[in-house]
Amino acid sequence: MKIIMYWVLLFSSCASFALENNPSGQEKSSVCAACHGATGQSSNSLWPHLAGQHATYIIKQLRDFKAGESRHAAIMTPFVASLNKQDMTDLALFYSKQPLVTPKKKNHQNLRGEQLYRRGDAEKQITACIACHGPTGLGNEEAGFPALAGQQKDYTIQQLKAFKKGTRQNDSYQIMRTISARMSHKDMAAVADYLSTLH
Ligand code: HEC
Ligand code: HEC
Repeated sequence: MKIIMYWVLLFSSCASFALENNPSGQEKSSVCAACHGATGQSSNSLWPHLAGQHATYIIKQLRDFKAGESRHAAIMTPFVASLNKQDMTDLALFYSKQPLVTPKKKNHQNLRGEQLYRRGDAEKQITACIACHGPTGLGNEEAGFPALAGQQKDYTIQQLKAFKKGTRQNDSYQIMRTISARMSHKDMAAVADYLSTLH
């Protein structure tokens, strides 16, 4: 058992060394930069930041966009059509290694957003987001919970609406569809605003 563990450690450290020194992710990202920014920081509130997002989550989204069944986005369709498994991995590793966006300073307190994120809403049966997306919004890669901290506000609202409408269905066990179904537009806007400055 111990020997297996050593092998796993050795293999993963070699693999990450090789990947950090593999510039192909950056090269391949040049077509994505127009919207997601050169280092994964987008400049449009409806285009998501990718910097610092977990690699496995990014790969899953690219696969889902390409399959076109559980997550659709016309704007992404032409960019995923020609990506193979290796391209997706290279791109995901490139973005996951870029520093997360440093959120702008908060100039207001958002009590409703903070409440929903940290404690949920028992009356409306909304689970606290913190349970999965973590105390600082960094998520959990192994569990498949994406980072949300610093994300573009309008993008977050749009995704919550898509889950609620069922146009985005790539959440296993319908986790996000169930939660968003209990949220009003006001709840979504409050939590998205809170998240955009969480760090
Ligand atoms: C023309 C603008 C544009 C280009 C170019 C573009 N994207 Fe996107 N991307 C978007 C938009 C808008 C969304 C949000 C789609 C939605 O769900 O409505 C998105 C979503 C994504 C997501 C999901 C993010 C998340 O948090 O779930 C990933 C990953 C992604 N893009 C990667 C890429 C990669 C890799 C490329 C290049 C091969 C690329 N994009 C090119 C606009 C673009
Ligand atoms: C039980 C775990 C769990 C809880 C609680 C939870 N989420 Fe999620 N969330 C997920 C998972 C899993 C995904 C990824 C779905 C996928 O694979 O595409 C996700 C995805 C998201 C996304 C899409 C991110 C992106 O980049 O496109 C948003 C936005 C989001 N959650 C917001 C919230 C908010 C707001 C709350 C609280 C009101 C919340 N989540 C509570 C598990 C959870």
